[in-house]
Amino acid sequence: MLEKIQQLTEEAVAAIEQAASSTDLDLLKAKYLGKKSEILAALKSLKDLSPEEKPKVGQLVNQAKIKITNSLSERRAVLQKASQKATISKEKIDVTLPARGPRLGKHHPITLVLEEVKKIFKEMGYVVAEGPDIESEYNNFEALNIPSFHPSRDMHDTFYLKSGDLLRTHTSPVQIRYMKKNKPPFAIIAPGRVYRRDADVTHSAVFHQVEGLLVDKKVTFADLKGTLSYFLHQFFGKNRRVRFRPSYFPFTEPSAEVDVECIMCSGKGCRVCKESGWLEILGAGMVDPNVFKAVGYDPEKYLGFAFGVGIERLAMLKYGIDDIRLFFENRINFLEQF
Ligand code: DAH
Repeated sequence: MLEKIQQLTEEAVAAIEQAASSTDLDLLKAKYLGKKSEILAALKSLKDLSPEEKPKVGQLVNQAKIKITNSLSERRAVLQKASQKATISKEKIDVTLPARGPRLGKHHPITLVLEEVKKIFKEMGYVVAEGPDIESEYNNFEALNIPSFHPSRDMHDTFYLKSGDLLRTHTSPVQIRYMKKNKPPFAIIAPGRVYRRDADVTHSAVFHQVEGLLVDKKVTFADLKGTLSYFLHQFFGKNRRVRFRPSYFPFTEPSAEVDVECIMCSGKGCRVCKESGWLEILGAGMVDPNVFKAVGYDPEKYLGFAFGVGIERLAMLKYGIDDIRLFFENRINFLEQF
């Protein structure tokens, strides 16, 4: 009997050390310590043993139970540690994988062009001036030599406000505001929003212009030509031809319109340039003496040149965009391209 218990204990411990899972351990526990196990049967048969044998067998059975229970829990701990290690290495995070970067916003093409125009003129020593979107009729028209009967008022398709003020139709009134507050010499550009009651593929009711104004004692048309040619060559590239055509604006005399060689066909003639090979880009001229008088400058003492350029037009030509409305629709797939 004693030998049998000894042997069973060794057998159980050996089997437990080989067990591969906690399920195996449960089965072994049932086999060696369960209700139907031989060790428990030995305990039950104690009553049939002699008084000398009883304590010996009883002691051995208890020792066997402790030994098997201990080796069960030791093995369980070993198996648990191993399975933990396995899951950790399986779920390991590879920190060397490239991260999914954040989606960055882009600058609007109008902003990009505005910034580039500003940069080119700032490098020539111009400073940036600003004026309000809501203007007086006087600053927008009268002071710029456009009296109420003047036919060029019709071209401006003005939004009037109940107050009698208006939404500025061009950035030229910034000239008036700046000259009233400052003494020559100076050179400014005035970027900003302008408004006209006009909307189609190439016209938007809200658009952007940059105004330029330089006033000093000795300014010639050659200065104007040199400045604007330099600007256009910086913006569109050195090889683009530029031409000046006589034109008319009430606030300049003489006046000119400035064309660049068509960006789309390089001067050969296409739909965009209406087969002329040229694109009109700028209005410009020498400041009219009446404008100087309106701001209290002596036209005998000062000379100046002014110009105005449409930002949407520059952007459409630079990026090959054929519908001005795209700038204002805020469609992500359009804006993402810049
Ligand atoms: N203000 C004119 C317009 O909106 C553009 C312009 C033309 C501005 C000639 C000027 C200039 O300063 O000299 O059509």
